[in-house]
Amino acid sequence: MLEQLSQLEAEALTSLEDAEDEADLEEWHRSYLGRRGRLTLLLRSVGDLPKEERPAVGRRGNQVKRALEAAYEARRETVRRASLARLLAEGAVDVTLPGRPTGPGHLHITTQTLREIIAIFAEMGFQVYEAPDVETDEMNFGLLNMPPHHPARDMWDTFWISDTLLLRTHTSPGQIRVMRERYPEPIRVILPGKCYRYEQVTARSEHQFYQVEGLAVGHGITMTDLIGTLTQLARRLYGPERSIRIRGSYFPFTEPSIEADMDCILCGGEGCRVCKYSGWLEIAGAGMVHPVVLRNGGYDPDEWSGFAFGMGVERPAMLKYGIDDIRLFYGSDLRFLRQF
Ligand code: DAH
Repeated sequence: MLEQLSQLEAEALTSLEDAEDEADLEEWHRSYLGRRGRLTLLLRSVGDLPKEERPAVGRRGNQVKRALEAAYEARRETVRRASLARLLAEGAVDVTLPGRPTGPGHLHITTQTLREIIAIFAEMGFQVYEAPDVETDEMNFGLLNMPPHHPARDMWDTFWISDTLLLRTHTSPGQIRVMRERYPEPIRVILPGKCYRYEQVTARSEHQFYQVEGLAVGHGITMTDLIGTLTQLARRLYGPERSIRIRGSYFPFTEPSIEADMDCILCGGEGCRVCKYSGWLEIAGAGMVHPVVLRNGGYDPDEWSGFAFGMGVERPAMLKYGIDDIRLFYGSDLRFLRQF
């Protein structure tokens, strides 16, 4: 039996040399190592040997098996290389062809919406001003008429970086920066950017989101200018038939403060699931810039007046496209992002 094994090994190794391609290799493997292969059958008969012969024959059998498997792998590699070399020589593989293209990317839905909003305000003469995401406590709250311990600070859940630094909770601190930079020029700017709040993330609220702040400062600016601007925004974003409703509200940095709603884009005011059966959708917080804030920006409130507003960016996009979960915006799921 030992002799038979050695003979089989020699024979197998010799015939392996003749395998020139994948098909030959497969055939060889089947005939020696396959389920009905010669070595397999031989090894299966070890059990019929007298007990004392079995260990030695078994050992030798496994040795032959491993040798044949190793030889098979090595031959396969040789055959593979040879066939690749042949293809290259024949010119069947053109290594000068360009690689598979990865499709071009496109703008994120938030960026698209932001650009749409920016374009609408640009038509009305508003410039874009960018303010930093990391702010001082003073800019985010203090200079906006919320000194330390002011209860209105509770309206914004805050990520603190240190005792005096934070991630801005709204784009409003940019108002102070623009005023200080532009004084004594009249101002008409929007401030788009990311805001952060220490909030539970749900389908309706994220801990990061975008806002667009608006600020106009000049001589004789009134509430009607504000209402006209917001009306124009709603009509350019959602269609010329939109109307606006104003409610009294409170913000520490505006006096008087308002909230602007527009008639529901889905039901037109009848009442539906989207507007929670009120017929109205909130679009912005706004108001006339508080005298204290004007002064903090360097503008004398006896000479100057202004309006300001703050609006979300994801919410309008959600309305427009019927998106019901804000978490999709920054979840990086391409199946969602590719749709816009
Ligand atoms: N900063 C406010 C917020 O994040 C929104 C806002 C309200 C901005 C009134 C304004 C404003 O400029 O006048 O909730």
